[in-house]
Amino acid sequence: MEDKVVLITGAGQRLGAAAAAMLMDAGCHVLIHVRSSVAEANAIVDAATARNGSVCGTVLTADLTKDDQVDALISDVKNHPLVEANGLFGLVHNASFYSQGDFETIPLETYRSLNRLHMEAPYHLTQSLLPEMERAGGSVVAIVDTSWGRAWEGLAHYTSSKAGLRQLMLNLAGELSGRIRVNCLAPGAIMAADWEAEHFARVLEKVPLGRSGEAKDIANGVQFLLTHGSITGNVLHVDGGWTLNE
Ligand SMILES: NC(=O)c1ccc[n+]([C@@H]2O[C@H](COP(=O)([O-])OP(=O)(O)OC[C@H]3O[C@@H](n4cnc5c(N)ncnc54)[C@H](OP(=O)(O)O)[C@@H]3O)[C@@H](O)[C@H]2O)c1
Repeated sequence: MEDKVVLITGAGQRLGAAAAAMLMDAGCHVLIHVRSSVAEANAIVDAATARNGSVCGTVLTADLTKDDQVDALISDVKNHPLVEANGLFGLVHNASFYSQGDFETIPLETYRSLNRLHMEAPYHLTQSLLPEMERAGGSVVAIVDTSWGRAWEGLAHYTSSKAGLRQLMLNLAGELSGRIRVNCLAPGAIMAADWEAEHFARVLEKVPLGRSGEAKDIANGVQFLLTHGSITGNVLHVDGGWTLNE
């Protein structure tokens, strides 16, 4: 994957950071987008640079719920010298915000913010960076989840915005076929949020493999979808078979 440039949103920590590290070790230059995890992202780039002997990442910041900051991020990506030279091989929509609450108590503004983060920003980034992706023979991977068609307690605001992202990507896979590939990756319960340890343990009891996966499994899935040139319009479940038992 030498000379390939990949943008991953929300990649300063957790699953996005694991994907960034794996792709940097595979020879990519990764544009690591963060909202606030600047120090963590710099540490990932420094560690990968030390392992690989050359600078293999750039940290870019933006709040993806703010149009002006998404615009600035798009300019930063387009004007990056490696993107100008090689185009954009991968765009990974990973940034997310996961919270739970009674439906009656979640403010409309929280819902709007999630829709901006999960749907509008991916729409805007994909639309604006399409020429760069076409130039690189590139593709999009959106990180969704396994909630599609199911009711998750206290998560309607989250699951519906992820469903929108999934549908946006599948529609674009058809609409943009022959120009770029577009796929989704649906993790199972991989890395618990602070508030969901108990729920997480209950989920893992239902997973056929007895484990849902690790951050590196998600990273492997992202790399697989970015590099397999005949796969488009797919939703790759990396969930230990969890969806079989729901
Ligand atoms: N963890 C799991 O087991 C699991 C299961 C199913 C699906 N997923 C999906 O997999 C992806 C990665 O999961 P994760 O748990 O690693 O994600 P996460 O920690 O919940 O979020 C990833 C990053 O999103 C960024 N972000 C949040 N709000 C933002 C905003 N307004 N603007 C820009 N960036 C923002 C944050 O960046 P900063 O830290 O820089 O602020 C955060 O580090 C997500 O799309 C998630 O929905 C995860």
